[in-house]
Amino acid sequence: MATATLDARSESILKYARTKMLIDGKWVDAADGRTFSTHNPATEEIIAHVPEGSAVDIDRAAAAARRAFESRGWRKMDARDRGKLMYKLADLIERDIDKLAALETLDNGKPIAESRNADLPLVIDCLRYYAGWADKLQGAVLPIRGNYMCYQKREPVGVAGQIIPWNFPMLMVAWKWGPALAAGCTVVLKPAEQTPLTALKMGELAMEAGFPEGVINIVTGDGEHCGDSLVKHKGVDKIAFTGEGRTAEIIMANAAPTLKRLTFELGGKSPNIVFADADMDAALNGAMLGLYLNQGQCCCAGSRLFVQDKAYDEFVSRLSEKANARKLGDPFDPSTEQGPQVDQAQFDKIMSYIDSGKNQGAKCVAGGARFGDKGFFIKPTIFADVQDNMAIATDEIFGPVLSVLRFKDIDEVVRRANATEYGLAAAVWTRDIAKAHRIADEVRAGTVWVNCYDVFDAAAPFGGFKRSGIGRELGAKGLDNYLEEKTVTISLD
Ligand code: NAI
Ligand code: MG
Repeated sequence: MATATLDARSESILKYARTKMLIDGKWVDAADGRTFSTHNPATEEIIAHVPEGSAVDIDRAAAAARRAFESRGWRKMDARDRGKLMYKLADLIERDIDKLAALETLDNGKPIAESRNADLPLVIDCLRYYAGWADKLQGAVLPIRGNYMCYQKREPVGVAGQIIPWNFPMLMVAWKWGPALAAGCTVVLKPAEQTPLTALKMGELAMEAGFPEGVINIVTGDGEHCGDSLVKHKGVDKIAFTGEGRTAEIIMANAAPTLKRLTFELGGKSPNIVFADADMDAALNGAMLGLYLNQGQCCCAGSRLFVQDKAYDEFVSRLSEKANARKLGDPFDPSTEQGPQVDQAQFDKIMSYIDSGKNQGAKCVAGGARFGDKGFFIKPTIFADVQDNMAIATDEIFGPVLSVLRFKDIDEVVRRANATEYGLAAAVWTRDIAKAHRIADEVRAGTVWVNCYDVFDAAAPFGGFKRSGIGRELGAKGLDNYLEEKTVTISLD
């Protein structure tokens, strides 16, 4: 019976979905007519078929984006009117918030409480934040030597190719479209093959908002062919990518011949540091949120939890209780806290890390196994007595697997926290302000949270040191990715 209910529900949610690509304002199939399927990760059922875009489709989309970029309709549109279109898009998303949240949950598996109350509000907020920037991109007058007037102005970089992952499908669209559209770029977006549905729907809402044809194009397809063609395309000026570091290496190499501008937001193995003087209840909640949010599929997951030795044993035992009490199951149940992983490949990768943790001698104190027998669910897993060189302590697992490490003092924990190729985020829990500042100062990461975790805001730049990325998204800084600087010098003689 449960399946029958789910089917009826899925069907009604899917009535709202778009399953064609958006190129030049038209809803189209792939040029060669091919499609691929997208699944409900909670049931493993196919929920829709969408066009499998290839080089030809990318070429059509890039050409449309170029025409739109050069058209007076977009180029000469008053900046404030560009902002108005973006506000309108945010309003339409807000109007459809429940339907979009349901579609996101169906395609991605994340609990409805999260898609409805976290992802969607952040999407709307991000678009409004950047809508407000559209008419505030000012230049400067520069005091150069000689009898000249010299000014600097900012111009859009051109056609932006945007390649996004599946962990926050709609939010990643907002992070990409917000600054690009505010800057006056046109875009070709390639959503992740696991989760194409909400991006397509956002495209439909953008058309309803009144964006000119070709300003926003969406080509669905895989990474190796479709994404690859976007990266290599001569008519694309810039690639913004979020995903795996290894993919970023390939993109960087493939973008070299056309010297594209690149921004990357990649993975992490973020240290979450708990001192014995911390507010333990807050730190426990922070450790849970920091790792298990979104089934652990967060680039900034606090997956290396360092706990000071005096507090270690009690902390691990209280944490295990919390992990065991976490509610897994139907992502559409409003009380569900954890849904399935996004697909079989992620499920397999995570299970193999759980095996490696066990084999390398870490102590599995919670979870460590699949949950149920249908869908890609994995029990919240905690490993204690983890050593720094174990794979579960060095590699991005991207699932609900927490490694808890023991430390003695601040010098030691700073050194170990930094002994990673990543540098996306870090957190520290302490009542000692000097310790908090030292950690914030010495840990090499793009974001540091003190006595909190996963606090995101459209106004606060986000991105990584080291292998965690290049450039920053969000905030005023995020606009730089989509702008060129022009210097104009005028002789006054
Ligand atoms: P991925 O990096 O392969 O995929 C992300 C996006 O890049 C997708 O849209 C994909 O189609 C595209 N892509 C893949 N290969 C490409 C290529 N050669 N050229 C152009 N585009 C390409 O990540 P994947 O395979 O989905 O996940 C693997 C691991 O990456 C995860 O287990 C996780 O560790 C990490 N990851 C990190 C994310 C983050 O937020 N930083 C998000 C998703 C995954
Ligand atoms: Mg991949």
